[in-house]
Amino acid sequence: MTVQMLELKPAAAEILRSPAKVKVVNSGRRFGKTRMALTWLLEGALLTPGSRMWFLAPSRLQAKSIAWKDLKEMVPQSWASQVRESTLTVELRNGSHIQLAGADYADSLRGQKADRFAVDEYCYIRDLQQMWEGALLPMLGTSDDGSVIFSSTPAGGGSFSADLWERAGSMESWARWNFPSVAGGWIKPEYVEQAKATMDPSLWRQEFFGSIESLLGAVYPAFNQQNIRDTVDNDGPILVGCDFNRSPYCGCILQVQGDSVVVLEEIVLMEADSREFALEVRDQYPNRMIHCAPDPTGSRKQTSSLGLSDHKILEEYGNFKICSPRAPWAIKDKVNSTRLMILDASGRRRLQVDPSCKRLIRSLKNLEFKPGLSVPDPQSDHGHMVDALGYGCLALSKGLTPWRVGSSEMIRVW
Ligand SMILES: Nc1ncnc2c1ncn2[C@@H]1O[C@H](COP(=O)(O)OP(=O)(O)OP(=O)(O)O)[C@@H](O)[C@H]1O
Ligand SMILES: [Mg+2]
Repeated sequence: MTVQMLELKPAAAEILRSPAKVKVVNSGRRFGKTRMALTWLLEGALLTPGSRMWFLAPSRLQAKSIAWKDLKEMVPQSWASQVRESTLTVELRNGSHIQLAGADYADSLRGQKADRFAVDEYCYIRDLQQMWEGALLPMLGTSDDGSVIFSSTPAGGGSFSADLWERAGSMESWARWNFPSVAGGWIKPEYVEQAKATMDPSLWRQEFFGSIESLLGAVYPAFNQQNIRDTVDNDGPILVGCDFNRSPYCGCILQVQGDSVVVLEEIVLMEADSREFALEVRDQYPNRMIHCAPDPTGSRKQTSSLGLSDHKILEEYGNFKICSPRAPWAIKDKVNSTRLMILDASGRRRLQVDPSCKRLIRSLKNLEFKPGLSVPDPQSDHGHMVDALGYGCLALSKGLTPWRVGSSEMIRVW
């Protein structure tokens, strides 16, 4: 590591030069947030002998994986007296410490000395408000020179992180910056352009422009008439997305056709279980290769008393090939995958729904986020059919099916 490696590009330098005590940075991915934060801590550690610098991330594991290697590389051996792997601490010869920790550690920092805090990926810290008010604020209050940088890609509106961003716009001795990824000077504009084909527009704006995309109102605002057209079964393999709710038990029959994901039909059964659903689908598509993307939790749970898991039932009674991860998907992944199919950031609408899928169309148009939460309203009756579609979209976009979401079309890879 040479001093040259501590180089800062103009945008990051502008942030670090500001005299504000609390700095809030919302930027796109790969802007150089983590490096900037580490540079700032290291600078402070060198300037003030015996100082304590903290780098906090949503969890200790994350702090270690995003910053520990970089930090060790940034500190020349001649400056360091100790590198402690067990506590993720670098001690400098001048008596200063730089330590990495998870946000949950903030509580145990009370009463400890702290000169600078860098809180990286702050929008993803679960108890951010408690951490800020309970631990960081009191420490800043007791130290004359204490200061903090919050940096992150945003994670939607309606949360304390969005509040913090608002405060930084009006509070004295606070400052805020919003930079797109390319302003950092480390990522190529072509890369950002290419990502358009694999992200929905609001996620793309969030991830590469650091924009706070409010998750209020409609979950699928881009879904419109251009996603609805008459479809024709091409007799090729189908992908069934299904949700295990008993009444209604919902399924979507999908088919990948060229660069489109077509919903040929929807299946709604009342008071039904996975066995009935599997038999119904198999009855309609007797000799067809059927891949099935069910709710991942069904590898354990059951909707019938057959003593088998829902996934096993779908396999045995429907002869389906199950495309499911072991662990449940995050809800936001399901929403993002569906949004990606509806409209990607380059304007392509892959999802084409047959007009006969009345329930699906109504649900895609009407499902709303639960106010105050960034998840669709779990009580809504519109959730079931959209979930059935969502599991299919997830399996497609996460590479669990024979098809991949490519840059220009869906290609069959198995
Ligand atoms: N000051 C710097 N000196 C040298 N290289 C840098 C610097 N800042 C950024 N880079 C380069 O850019 C890459 C991304 O930087 P960094 O990890 O800090 O960005 P980030 O905004 O935290 O990214 P992410 O959104 O993935 O968390 C680094 O791996 C490094 O290659
Ligand atoms: Mg980072």
